[in-house]
This record gives sequence, structure tokens and C-alpha cells, in this order.
Amino acid sequence: MDKISSVPKHVAIIMDGNGRWAVEKGLKRIEGHRAGVKVVKEIVEASVEVGVKYLTLYAFSTENWKRSTEEVSFLLNLFVDAIQNYIPELKENSIKLNFIGDFSPLPMPLRKTMEYAIKETESGSKLVLTIAINYGGRHEIVEACKKICKSGEDINETNFLKYLYTFNLPDPDLLIRTSGEMRISNFLLFQIAYTELYFTKTLWPDFTKEEFFKILEDFSKRERRFGGV
Ligand code: FPP
Repeated sequence: MDKISSVPKHVAIIMDGNGRWAVEKGLKRIEGHRAGVKVVKEIVEASVEVGVKYLTLYAFSTENWKRSTEEVSFLLNLFVDAIQNYIPELKENSIKLNFIGDFSPLPMPLRKTMEYAIKETESGSKLVLTIAINYGGRHEIVEACKKICKSGEDINETNFLKYLYTFNLPDPDLLIRTSGEMRISNFLLFQIAYTELYFTKTLWPDFTKEEFFKILEDFSKRERRFGGV
């Protein structure tokens, strides 16, 4: 890989297309999610390799509860297994794990695994890997409004940001969505005001390191003006 001239500090990804990938292959939808975990690992490694400092992945939205009970419980169990299995590798590679979302409706074993993983990886300094679980952008904004009102602080952008789940993250520089859908689906609504967007038709289980690097190269050629000239 040639050196990318301007690596985004924070990349966010909507990992879409697991279900379609599986159905196209005559498999059950859940097999698509299982395949998706392998791609998560590949893209995390690629991010470290290239020097991305923050990677934020949309794993489960506040709307995903509408899926079948079988699929929801498979996904929640898959998160437990994937996080648990991945902790040693995260530690070895100095990756700090972080989660955003409303965790209150999540099953206790998942919440405990998340807490444990956060503690185990807290000294990671190469990459902050944030997983959005039961995350919804509108919910996040409404909750932040409630909290800032309760605090009695002045309501301005600087103070407001402190009440978002992402208080400790910079805004994403680049948002990628796989599977050809051209929408944001309630992800990081407040944070993507000036984020560069990239949509690829590739289904998440087929997404590769090579395509990721190509997208980063495309990003490095874009001119970002943040509303200036
Ligand atoms: C969207 O595809 C994908 C999801 C709702 C789940 C994403 C989860 C993973 C890839 C596992 C990640 C694991 C960790 C630990 C981060 P879809 O089911 O909406 O696909 P479709 O649009 O084709 O139906």
C-alpha cells in the first residue's frame, strides 16, 4: 500500500448488508452477521496499520429491536462472544474499547462483558474502537438536552457536546456506509455536520482492507472547507 497523504483521524462506519449477503448465498441472515465479525477485525487491523486514531462502528441501532426475536438474540449473544474473544488481541495491539448507546435495555451478560472489556483495554493508546450498541442519534440528542437542562449550565455548543455519548471523541472525518443504501439511519446525527460521506455498494461481509484503503485515498483527495471558501 502506498502511503496515504491525509489519513482521517476518525472514521465511522455503518456496516450494512449482512442479511442480504447471507440470503444471496442461501444462508440464514444470522450467518451474515457471523461473517461480519471477521470483517470488523480486518478493518480494525487496517485502521491501526494506517494510523486512524478513532474507529466507530454501528453494530445495533435503537430500531434494530424490530427484527425477529431470533435475530436480535443472536446479535446480542454474538456481541458477547466477539467482545470476549477479542479482548486479548485488543490489549496486544493497544486498542481501547469504548461503547456508545443506551445500555439500559441490554441483557446483563452483555453489559457486564462491555464493562469488563472497557476496563481491560483502558490503557490502549493506538486506536479508540467505539461500538455503537442500541444507539440512536435522535435519542442521544434528546437525552443530552435533558441532561444539560438539569445541570443548569449555559446552553451553548461547547457545553452541549459534553452531554453526548461521544463527549470524549472528535467528530468523524469520514463516514462510510456499505451495501448501497444512501442514508444515515440515525447514526451520529449531531456529530457528522462536516463529515465526508462515502457510500459503497459492497455488502459488509465482502468489504476488505483493500477497499478501505481505496476509500481513505479518495478521502485524502477531498477538499474540506468546513463552510469556508
Ligand atoms: C446490518 O446488516 C448489520 C447489523 C445490524 C449488525 C452488524 C453487526 C456486526 C457486523 C457484528 C459486529 C460485532 C461487533 C463485536 C462489533 P443488515 O442485517 O441490516 O443487512 P441487510 O440490510 O442486508 O438486511
